[in-house]
Amino acid sequence: MTTPDYAEKIPNNVDLRDDRRLQRALEAWQPNFLSWWGSMGPTLPTQDVYLRTAVNVGREGWAHFGHVAMRDYRWGIFLAERDPDRRIGFGDHKGEPPWQQVPGEYRSELRRLIVIQGDTEPASVEQQRNLGATAPSLYDLRNLFQVNVEEGRHLWAMVYLLHAHFGREGREEAEELLHRNSGSEDAPRILGAFNEETPDWLSFFMFTYFTDRDGKYQLGTLKESAFDPLSRTCEFMLKEEAHHMFVGTTGVDRVVERTAQLMTEHDSDEVAARGGIPLDVIQKYLNFHYSVSLDLFGGDTSTNVANYYTAGLKGRWLEDRRRDDHKLTSESIMVDALEDGEIGQTEVAALVGLNTDLRREYITDCQSGVKRWNRILDGAGLEPRLKLPHVAFNRKVGAFAGIEATPDGELLTAGEWERRKGEWLPTDVDKTHVRSLMQPVHERGKIAAWIAPPRNGINGKPFDYDYVHLA
Ligand SMILES: [Fe+2]
Ligand SMILES: [Fe+2]
Repeated sequence: MTTPDYAEKIPNNVDLRDDRRLQRALEAWQPNFLSWWGSMGPTLPTQDVYLRTAVNVGREGWAHFGHVAMRDYRWGIFLAERDPDRRIGFGDHKGEPPWQQVPGEYRSELRRLIVIQGDTEPASVEQQRNLGATAPSLYDLRNLFQVNVEEGRHLWAMVYLLHAHFGREGREEAEELLHRNSGSEDAPRILGAFNEETPDWLSFFMFTYFTDRDGKYQLGTLKESAFDPLSRTCEFMLKEEAHHMFVGTTGVDRVVERTAQLMTEHDSDEVAARGGIPLDVIQKYLNFHYSVSLDLFGGDTSTNVANYYTAGLKGRWLEDRRRDDHKLTSESIMVDALEDGEIGQTEVAALVGLNTDLRREYITDCQSGVKRWNRILDGAGLEPRLKLPHVAFNRKVGAFAGIEATPDGELLTAGEWERRKGEWLPTDVDKTHVRSLMQPVHERGKIAAWIAPPRNGINGKPFDYDYVHLA
């Protein structure tokens, strides 16, 4: 493994200069990426932004912070260090050395997994492209752009694998990743949540909390892959992803904190007229983003995913901490199901229930967010009343796709759902109100009235640091 050389066109730690064909292919893709960034990336013109750039993969000092013009950002290719002692941790190949090349029999499945992951990365940049114009502070604006450039780098990470290991088909898929666009009629992104809008900052924080967190769990399963380059790529991406989680978690914290302040100041839930976002609107946004993110985990049962596991392509979250045989041939799991038309569960083989296993890990993680937001309410002397809706609420994928349910998990007829869904999902009135609050605050050290300032700045800098210089 080499230390990346930033004089090179594509910074990397994969010895790209020793493979001229691959280097030329990626250098040919680079202008396409840049033109995609120019036309589909952030729309707010800036001179420079205080960004971190990945410069190495070691435990110490893997990133460099500094003001850079975004078009000059150095998107690079970084794989975590190779562990010479690594062994495949699960499935039929458990205990064998991991693969450095793609085995012919798993070629199309691995390519598919990489394309699906890769498709989400540029999608979120597209979804968030207009948010800069309404940023609540320069600090938040900088965080938005940090997330955006890193999602761009994650696209590079997947495109590298496609180019390096999947020949002509891989190169074609890399082109398609720039051709599909979020919300496009003709060529939409592959997964539903990545075609939704992110029109305001409450949506952005909910997206980075709930939907980016789905990404964290997917990357966690790919990090276990027997295909070592994929494993090492995902390991490094997870490091960057931690900051995206932070942006979501603390973003919602700060909205709740501000709402709680207004509620106690005026002794009333009606904070809309006072420039805040009412708690029940926060709950509706939470309901929406959580339920569409649950759909990203796929059907409750899946024979494809069982096959991926057995083949060693995709493991479980924290595979090595599981106390079982890591083959799961004789285990079972309860999965969500409709039982005689009622919301219930049914027992299936553990292998086909792996989507459910991952979704439950994710749900437990999401509960910790709700807990901390309720703690903020509690600290302000208010009733801790935020909650995750029932798993059957507003689902479009899986056992509950065909039914409607309240956030408490009570079945509804289609008619009742239509009549009442505005109680639980953002209505046009709610969205219009939230959007009306989205007035840009691009002045150093200032913050919009609907959100509390952060406790700390970035990389030891104060909140009033000049994180962004607008053009
Ligand atoms: Fe990402
Ligand atoms: Fe992310």
